[in-house]
Amino acid sequence: MEHPVRIDERLREGKVGVDLVVAGIGQLVTLDHADGAGRTGPLRGADLDRTGAVPDGMLVCGGGLVLAWGPGAQLTAALLSAGIDLAGVETLDARGMAVIPAFVDPHTHLVFGRTRQDEYERRIRGETYLEIAAAGGGIMASVNDLRRRSEDELVTLGTERVREMMAHGTVTVEVKSGYGLNLEDELKMLRAAGRIAELTGIRMVRTCLAAHEIPAEYRDRRGRYVELVRREILPAAAAAGLATRADVFCEPSVFDLDETRDILTTARNLGLALTVHADELEPFGGAALAAALGALSADHLIKIDEQGISALAGSGTVAVLLPGTVFSLGLETFAPARRMITAGCAIALASDFNPGSCPIMSMPLIMAIACTRMHLTPAESLASATLNAAWALGLQEVTGSLAVGKSADFLVLDVPDFRLVPYHAGHNPVAAAFLRGRQI
Ligand code: NIG
Ligand code: FE
Repeated sequence: MEHPVRIDERLREGKVGVDLVVAGIGQLVTLDHADGAGRTGPLRGADLDRTGAVPDGMLVCGGGLVLAWGPGAQLTAALLSAGIDLAGVETLDARGMAVIPAFVDPHTHLVFGRTRQDEYERRIRGETYLEIAAAGGGIMASVNDLRRRSEDELVTLGTERVREMMAHGTVTVEVKSGYGLNLEDELKMLRAAGRIAELTGIRMVRTCLAAHEIPAEYRDRRGRYVELVRREILPAAAAAGLATRADVFCEPSVFDLDETRDILTTARNLGLALTVHADELEPFGGAALAAALGALSADHLIKIDEQGISALAGSGTVAVLLPGTVFSLGLETFAPARRMITAGCAIALASDFNPGSCPIMSMPLIMAIACTRMHLTPAESLASATLNAAWALGLQEVTGSLAVGKSADFLVLDVPDFRLVPYHAGHNPVAAAFLRGRQI
């Protein structure tokens, strides 16, 4: 079988230089076939299952970007005939192991104080997530805890968590606020997230989720809280550049469709991109609303109905599935991923890492759960955790695949076949992670 060679034009023209070569790659998965062919959307249908894996591959980087890739012998010859000699360039020998795009985790709540293992045990003993929340646990437990903590403490805690995520191959992460639920504490969370990004070097997208819950002090005047979010919190977060996206927990027991539409319309007018926690606990129309508003993504979707599926399939809104949450909550029903793929939805995977419903921060483990419980193929799970996840954040031009010209964000694995990533559930397969061509 013929395998392609890709060389960035700027490299051919001598406008950029090579500073890193990864050679001896047993299996090079670039996912570049998809967006290199003039295609303009996330992967759908059968395209999600194609990896275009190259055996005996080589990856050539420079200035933090992917400059070329292909089978090693062919690529070396092609470069030589273009007058580009790799002799003397820093070369990493992958020793026959696989190289894949680094993970993009497009949905997390990683800024929080204490962990909630007490609730984990209560669920094991039979209480449900909603019962625990109604009894003062759930999101409000984390809100009460976070409001008491300093920004510095949140930075220290979050930095450790991000370092662990990076060790598991995540180099791009989305982080939401939503445990402050007032102006001061929402901004504190977003500032903490920004400092965590600076300290760790991770690429981060921040989302204002002030509409995560109605705080206790507004329970009997919920309209006033919606107004606070629309008139104060979102404008302040946007003006200070602390968030580029807005999110709403759209659910009958939290924010209804009208409230969600109002909040997201305000956010859109402020120049924020949109995402929605949708159709998680009940089929409620959140996914269809996300599609109608042109949201980047609709997330969770465990209970999405046929109308929601066809709305997403006919839109550019990515369906971000969070199977780690279903697993961690001990539930049986996962999002209908196969039906969604068949219908033409663009799906992505995220961890949903948070102290309540999903303490998992490893994307390899999320892929394993997605394969075993939602019946994604290993290739579909990889594309969903990389390229389509980048689309869910609007970062498809920057990362998510190893297309030439994109950021050199890749993982050298300790296994020779990417399918061993979901297969070895619980193992961390990342031998080395690179962000912008630098090992982290
Ligand atoms: O995405 N669904 C709502 N929010 C989080 C849970 C947050 C929490 O329990 O603290 C989620 O699962
Ligand atoms: Fe979430």
